Amino acid sequence: MGLLLPMLFTIFVALVGGLYVLGVFRKRRPGEPPLDKGLIPWLGHVLEFRRDTFKFLERMKKKHGDVFTVQLAGNYITFLQDPLSFGAFVKESRKKLDFNTFAEQMVYRVFGYVPIEEDYHILHSSSNKHLKGEGLDVMTEAMMSNLQNLMLHSVSSDQKTWKEDGLFMYSYNIVFRAGYLALFGNVPHKSEGGEEQAKEKDRSQSETLFYEFRKYDQLFPNLALGVLSPKQQWEVDRLQTFFWDAVSVQKMKANDNISRWVWDMHQAKEELGVKESNINKYLFVLLWASQGNTGPSSFWLLLFLLKHPEAMKAIREEVDEVLKETGQEVQPGCPLINLTHEMLTKTPILDSAVEETLRLTAAPLLLRAVLQNMTLKMADGREYFIREGDRMGIFPYEDVHLDPEIHPDPLSFKYDRFLNPDGSKKTDFYKAGKKVKFHNMPWGAGVSMCPGRFFPTNELKQFVFLMLIYFEFELMNPDEKIPEIDFRRCGLGSMQPVRDVQFRYRLRY
Ligand code: HEM
Ligand SMILES: *[C@@H]1O[C@H](CO)[C@@H](O)[C@H](O)[C@H]1NC(C)=O
Ligand SMILES: *[C@@H]1O[C@H](CO)[C@@H](O)[C@H](O)[C@H]1NC(C)=O
Ligand SMILES: *[C@@H]1O[C@H](CO)[C@@H](O)[C@H](O)[C@H]1NC(C)=O
Repeated sequence: MGLLLPMLFTIFVALVGGLYVLGVFRKRRPGEPPLDKGLIPWLGHVLEFRRDTFKFLERMKKKHGDVFTVQLAGNYITFLQDPLSFGAFVKESRKKLDFNTFAEQMVYRVFGYVPIEEDYHILHSSSNKHLKGEGLDVMTEAMMSNLQNLMLHSVSSDQKTWKEDGLFMYSYNIVFRAGYLALFGNVPHKSEGGEEQAKEKDRSQSETLFYEFRKYDQLFPNLALGVLSPKQQWEVDRLQTFFWDAVSVQKMKANDNISRWVWDMHQAKEELGVKESNINKYLFVLLWASQGNTGPSSFWLLLFLLKHPEAMKAIREEVDEVLKETGQEVQPGCPLINLTHEMLTKTPILDSAVEETLRLTAAPLLLRAVLQNMTLKMADGREYFIREGDRMGIFPYEDVHLDPEIHPDPLSFKYDRFLNPDGSKKTDFYKAGKKVKFHNMPWGAGVSMCPGRFFPTNELKQFVFLMLIYFEFELMNPDEKIPEIDFRRCGLGSMQPVRDVQFRYRLRY
């Protein structure tokens, strides 16, 4: 008897504690958004959320309106789905809505990198210096020389025969490898005994890297969620070890043409006394962040152009005109063209097509940790109490990119959607008569906004520019349907298709 009571008490406490952890006692308090815990304790809605983020949030919006709190794997996340109120989320102080906590947990879990406090500052200061403005002139030149090495090296050997390939794999492969070489540097001519040999080595090494990168890429959705099978976990471990070596400080230092973007970040960390093995892991983070999105986006852009002849025609004319203005010509025997950053600032139609492509195919999920109790003030005056310890998220793909009021006929590719009638860039978009400031958000917004964004826009334009001036290309099946998007990758950035599309290409001249 003497023991039974304490034992019962202990079991009772454990039970209540367990139920508490499972979220059974959480109730909506006055002033809070509607709460939807889902049927499964603790897990809540996470399975449906992962299967199709888009459909899940759409269903919740229909049920609860444009602000609601859902339970996902033990976390309570309040989604804000009114684009006119996004400013309140994006501009809230970092003391209340924090991004770094997520970023740090993620880079550790997914890339093995142990974060330091200065990471954010180092990344943003290097990106501001080297991935925009004059820094972008240098990056454009590096990118161009690598694109030409990869796309045109076989030009003289197999003149005018058609080559067949998957458009997704072709685009991703070229853009990944050129981007990697532009950022991490080239094999020096002298170490290989000549320029041609060094270029060949650049091609073969980057090919191996891409091959392994794609394996990691395909495991990534499960890895990010922490739901890998033992076999997949083993493969992830193997790939991580491969990349920590393949893009290590030591390997990089042997290269020429290392970008200032990567170099400065590596140096800043070295000066702070970060261990070299940890810097190697950071270089892998940079490889991932810089090369995982632009390739898939370049596929969608080319595919949309192939499926929309009027868009292809308009952009082809624009590109030819820009080239003509510089007095350059694409002819057999002529030197390769020198496509500069300056030339790429004169292509408003291509700019609009890039923006339209990203609207349709880039779907970041913006997440923040709620560090203090706060009040969310909506554009229409409503106010909601948000609890400390919860999370907040917005998913602009659904509420902005595909909102038929902001972008009429939202599922159609309209290459001139982001152009005014006078040919200038269009930035005025409306919802309920009000101007929507955040009318396209492929880069995210606020503290988590992609720090590289000017560079990938440029990369996409360079790739398409070169494809158009050097090659003829067409779909093997002219009636090919645009493949569905793989929604398991929702929230991670640029989305990928569920299958590839066959095409063929050959030199234009
Ligand atoms: C079409 C191509 C790209 C898209 C759509 C894209 C989009 C994004 C988005 C949405 C984020 C925020 C992720 C989050 O909130 O967790 C992000 C982060 C980042 N992006 Fe990009 N990105 C692209 C290409 C690039 C390139 C080419 C670079 C570098 C050269 C780059 C560098 C980064 C870095 C370093 C971060 C991490 C920022 C941080 O942790 O604070 N991105 N990108
Ligand atoms: C470095 O880049 C320039 C163009 O930016 C290129 O001409 C040169 O060949 C590159 N060096 C090596 C070793 O590839
Ligand atoms: C390309 O043009 C730019 C700007 O005119 C120049 O600085 C650069 O040296 C040129 N590059 C090549 C490879 O000719
Ligand atoms: C936050 O709000 C909750 C619920 O209203 C309250 O119990 C808690 O004490 C508050 N926390 C702080 C730090 O004010």
